Amino acid sequence: MPIVRLPGLIDPHVHLRDPGATHKEDFVTGTRAALAGGFTAVLDMPNNPGDPTISPQALARKAASSSGRVSCDVGFFYGATAGNASTYAEIAPDVFGLKLYLDHTTGDLKVEELEAIRDIMLAWPAHKPLCVHAEDRTLAMALGLLPSVGRGVHFCHVSEKVEIELIRDAKERGLPVTCEVAPHHLFLTEDDLPALGGYGVMKPPLKRGRDVDALWTNLDVIDMIATDHAPHTRNEKEGDKPAFGVPGLETSLPLMLTAVHSGKLTLDRLVEMMHAAPARVFHVPTQPDTYIEVDTSRRWQISGDNLQTRCGWTPFDGMTVVGAVEKVVMRGQEAVQRGIVKVEPGSAHNMRPLA
Ligand code: NCD
Ligand code: ZN
Ligand code: ZN
Ligand code: ZN
Repeated sequence: MPIVRLPGLIDPHVHLRDPGATHKEDFVTGTRAALAGGFTAVLDMPNNPGDPTISPQALARKAASSSGRVSCDVGFFYGATAGNASTYAEIAPDVFGLKLYLDHTTGDLKVEELEAIRDIMLAWPAHKPLCVHAEDRTLAMALGLLPSVGRGVHFCHVSEKVEIELIRDAKERGLPVTCEVAPHHLFLTEDDLPALGGYGVMKPPLKRGRDVDALWTNLDVIDMIATDHAPHTRNEKEGDKPAFGVPGLETSLPLMLTAVHSGKLTLDRLVEMMHAAPARVFHVPTQPDTYIEVDTSRRWQISGDNLQTRCGWTPFDGMTVVGAVEKVVMRGQEAVQRGIVKVEPGSAHNMRPLA
């Protein structure tokens, strides 16, 4: 069984729900899930239901809540609203980027007015990442604004054929655009929805087979993999209106290693997409003496049992994968060994981006 050493993975898109919705996840459970999945650093999104990270005070509450409680390093994004641009200069050095929601999803951060959207793009420092939740037509709108606002954007969770084709075209024209794709959009389609029920509901939704095929065909355009780890309780997924989002921290690396096993990408490209590119694009500090070891040939079945995430389920339940995390070493300390998290909350810390 080939054991391969890789750098600690970086997930540029997680929702740890803390503070504000800690019945779904919190810094303790979410960062344990990250470690178990091979991630030694994660970047946390601002749409916390109950306490969105849209003011300096809310950002301070988030930092306070994470203090002494994380097992992998955590960085934060700030949320854009139509009214909070005056706070950007103050918080920009402390966050890894601004998040702008152009579509409805969990939380209430969708910005409606075109003028407000343009003004947010102008107000956020041009050298700092601006992450956009944009689906279908809103992605085209965001692209259309780039020449006027003189800055780049990072597109979150790209899921559709036309989206990845538009991003390819924008890159070929020299626009400063990067993008991420979530494993659920690479390994599931809308055909899985009847079996998954509420557990297959997320934003952007699962797409057609032709969209999934287009993501794989345009893999060279995809800068990075992001889990979009978005836990909700079973109750919240089983009602008439299931909450949007699925957990992904503990399944993303095994799924991507399975794609390596089947020849869909190389291990080098996996490392580029799950470590080097997020580090580069989001200015994530280097973690000394930090690495993971994976068994690239271990075949196992994903199960909702034994997960570290508080939500306790996965949309990939029952799927057979090839590739597993054997060990995680953080700053010289053995943090995970064969599925057992060995460090205590507080063994890692909050990160500030490199300047
Ligand atoms: C995310 C969440 O629940 O916070 N849900 C999702 O379906 N992806 C929000 C988001 O990333 O849009
Ligand atoms: Zn989103
Ligand atoms: Zn998300
Ligand atoms: Zn095999």
